[in-house]
Amino acid sequence: MKNIVILGSTGTIGQNTLEVVRRDSGNFCILGLACHFRRDILFGQIKEFHPKYVYTEKEDSSFEHDFPDITFLYGDDGLEVIATLKEADIIICAIPGIKALKSVISAIKKKKTICLATKEILVVAGDIIMPLAEREGVKVLPVDSEHNALFQALEGVERKDIAKVYLTASGGPFYGTKMKKDVSPEDALAHPVWKMGKKITVDSATMLNKSFEVIEAHHLFSLPTEKIDVLIHPEAVVHGMVELVDGTIKGILSVPDMKIPISFVLHYPCRSDHCWQHIDFDKIGKLHFYPVERDADWFLLAQQAIEKKGSFPVVFNSANEEAVELFLEGKVKFQEIIPLVKAVIGAHTYKRDISLEDVFYFNNWAKEQTKEFVGVKK
Ligand SMILES: NC(=O)c1ccc[n+]([C@@H]2O[C@H](COP(=O)([O-])OP(=O)(O)OC[C@H]3O[C@@H](n4cnc5c(N)ncnc54)[C@H](OP(=O)(O)O)[C@@H]3O)[C@@H](O)[C@H]2O)c1
Repeated sequence: MKNIVILGSTGTIGQNTLEVVRRDSGNFCILGLACHFRRDILFGQIKEFHPKYVYTEKEDSSFEHDFPDITFLYGDDGLEVIATLKEADIIICAIPGIKALKSVISAIKKKKTICLATKEILVVAGDIIMPLAEREGVKVLPVDSEHNALFQALEGVERKDIAKVYLTASGGPFYGTKMKKDVSPEDALAHPVWKMGKKITVDSATMLNKSFEVIEAHHLFSLPTEKIDVLIHPEAVVHGMVELVDGTIKGILSVPDMKIPISFVLHYPCRSDHCWQHIDFDKIGKLHFYPVERDADWFLLAQQAIEKKGSFPVVFNSANEEAVELFLEGKVKFQEIIPLVKAVIGAHTYKRDISLEDVFYFNNWAKEQTKEFVGVKK
């Protein structure tokens, strides 16, 4: 029996994780659930999975009152406590942004297996997280479907035999269409394939999600940008491919359903005997792959972040996070997101060697600067 703590249990990844656990309740026990404020969803999860520990950002004694047997945790310290519980085996990290960064670091130090959905954590602190995990002998298992596919395709492959890896991208809601002048949040949130949280869905529409995924792949698999490529693949059936030096390509295919990579990481190194959905090749017909332009802004930003490291990826990530929020609030236009992010990066005083404290400093600075450029007081 593996004890699981889910950081972000009420979100898309969190709810998918609980579906996998529900299907295999003989092997998994939910020890802890953490979310921000959606207590309506959390209430049902507590009733069904009976966790011993629950985290919400702010205290709510009336909610606590309903569950006298549960230990409730709050605030930043509470998140670290729930991520490092002695009985916990696996921590699923699925809180967008870098809210859970310190908790993930503490969990690695306590030798918990990390199933990482939150790509932002590797984008800003991959150079801290991955060496630490290696020193502690801890597995960081990628939940992101493309990286999960690469992780599987790379098993048994020697580094010298890797020619390059391909991340696939559905292209988001605007691929192949003439983009409207005034893109509304509803337009950007209408993802053609995946049902995801708002932040990652907008990132998919700007293609900056793929930018972050290139950086994520660099950290997870220690690959330079030249060996990371992206293909637009609208059917989203092939999630990642590894090209070997002899021209052979290993690809991982499945229907686009996050329960599949989540089930993989929860069962790792074994495999679940349950198939969520088979690919129906009769229905698919053709699979399409289109190259991307490596001189597009989103690709260049990823490339620069990997080359420069330090404060660059932190400011990149945090400026984007704020810009997306401002777009969803109607304060920034869709087409302004990338120029705004680039302006904030350009305005910052670059630092190559950064500590964890610096990560938080640059994160706050970038968010404030983004708001200032837009003239927004929050
Ligand atoms: N969705 C996908 O298919 C997918 C695929 C690959 C990677 N990812 C990555 O996985 C992460 C989660 O994505 P998602 O789509 O599941 O997001 P989501 O649906 O927006 O869910 C976010 C979760 O995090 C919680 N949360 C937010 N702020 C918090 C805070 N300050 N303290 C504690 N909990 C907080 C939310 O709680 P409330 O519900 O209470 O607000 C919710 O449970 C993102 O980093 C995303 O890039 C997602």
